[in-house]
Amino acid sequence: MKISILTIFPEMIQPMVECSILGRAVKKGILEIEIVNIRDFSDSKHKNTDDYPFGGGVGMLMMPQPIFSALESVKTNGCVSIYMSPQGQTLTPEIAKELSTNEHLVILCGHYEGVDQRVLDNAIDREISIGDYVLTGGELAALVVVDAVSRFVDGVLGSVDSAYEDSFSDGLLEAPQYTRPADYNGLKVPEVLLSGNHAKITLWQREMQLRTTLKKRPDLLKTAQLSDEDVKILEKIKKE
Ligand SMILES: C[S@@+](CC[C@H](N)C(=O)[O-])C[C@H]1O[C@@H](n2cnc3c(N)ncnc32)[C@H](O)[C@@H]1O
Repeated sequence: MKISILTIFPEMIQPMVECSILGRAVKKGILEIEIVNIRDFSDSKHKNTDDYPFGGGVGMLMMPQPIFSALESVKTNGCVSIYMSPQGQTLTPEIAKELSTNEHLVILCGHYEGVDQRVLDNAIDREISIGDYVLTGGELAALVVVDAVSRFVDGVLGSVDSAYEDSFSDGLLEAPQYTRPADYNGLKVPEVLLSGNHAKITLWQREMQLRTTLKKRPDLLKTAQLSDEDVKILEKIKKE
């Protein structure tokens, strides 16, 4: 999968895509991340990328010309262009999964007061937000999208299954997890996890998923697909 990120601050993106799981996926050639400096496409003598907004208002706005030219240079047949925006659809696991099925994503990061509306109306397929708050620029938001989407690309995680076992994958939060030692200064790992009895472990993990979700995100239980057994377990927990 290829992801092109258009920004006026490429140095904010570069280090993040060079390390850890993303960096390994890039090295393996599973992901291609292209960082495009919008400033390089400015036709103006001083390589300007922003100007005052018509009609007044505080702050500067990113000009259309450098962005249109940068987008034109990276777009491929069938690519999906995304503008990171607090006004966009809020990123969810479903959107991340859906985006991961595209061969090429082009992500535009805004800055200052945002981007000239003509770019959004004529060269952007969708707007995505990472939450109802306003950031100073789209770079962090773009990295959140790149990271969340990449987890669903085959081969990026050690085992692709892990993306489907994490919180939200089945509508619930994940069960608590433990690693060695089994006893850390008297803090013990639940006995069942050491029992080697897989059926019992699976039952325990399901119950813990339901307990955790009920405690931390009860709203998720309204939409999660629950079996009759899950409903019985929840009723038992609520009576405790
Ligand atoms: C200060 S914001 C501009 C906000 C814009 N004036 C508004 O009120 O909708 C600058 C840039 O940060 C990015 N940004 C800010 N908040 C974001 C969010 N919640 N999700 C995604 N991108 C965001 C966008 O790319 C935006 O162009």
